[in-house]
Amino acid sequence: MTKHFFSALQGRRSYYALSKEALIDDQRIEELVGEAVKQMPSPFNSQSGRVVILLGQRHDRFWDIVKEQLQAIVPAESFQITEDKINDSFKCGYGTILYYEDLSVVEGLQQKFPAYLDKFPLWSNQSSGMLQFAIWTALELEGYGASLQHYNPVIDAAVRAEWDLPADWSLIAQMPFGKPAAQPKPKEFQPLSARIKLFK
Ligand SMILES: Cc1cc2nc3c(=O)[nH]c(=O)nc-3n(C[C@H](O)[C@H](O)[C@H](O)COP(=O)(O)O)c2cc1C
Repeated sequence: MTKHFFSALQGRRSYYALSKEALIDDQRIEELVGEAVKQMPSPFNSQSGRVVILLGQRHDRFWDIVKEQLQAIVPAESFQITEDKINDSFKCGYGTILYYEDLSVVEGLQQKFPAYLDKFPLWSNQSSGMLQFAIWTALELEGYGASLQHYNPVIDAAVRAEWDLPADWSLIAQMPFGKPAAQPKPKEFQPLSARIKLFK
């Protein structure tokens, strides 16, 4: 990881054109995910974030499950577009990271600190967002492109059953990644003067 922090921020984009070519060992993927999970801040250091890493055939199986679950609810005439998007984009990648929050941890905090009862689910989501961003950027530093998808809650039960995941784990986001097969389009930025106020 030799790139400067802000180069990594600039390089992190949503990549939708992916290939299955491996750029690093699977063990390295596990290491960088593990480091991000370990170092992320969380409310009261509750460490409610959970992650599932799906590689190779497991990644393919995941996207087949997404298609199966969507087919059951999407009108037949529009399902083809959905299926093409999954087959031509996300499923072409090398792996998918699933982001969960452990609701038993969140509920434990709510019982212990009732004054913040309504805040804990929000903070849990914020903590997950930080984790998603950290892993997204870490993958970028290794040369992978990723994007963030939200097929939850439609897919939750089927994915939980497939990998026998704990009932308390709540699915927040899905991040397919792979070697970039095309670069994202340039991004438009709003003027920072409209977004930041500095007082001194
Ligand atoms: C909380 C959040 C939710 C998002 N959800 C989706 C999503 O469901 N599908 C998707 O393709 N992109 C999703 N994105 C990606 C944004 O569309 C993308 O980050 C934004 O357009 C800026 O582009 P960039 O990622 O290339 O910088 C999400 C991003 C964030 C931060």
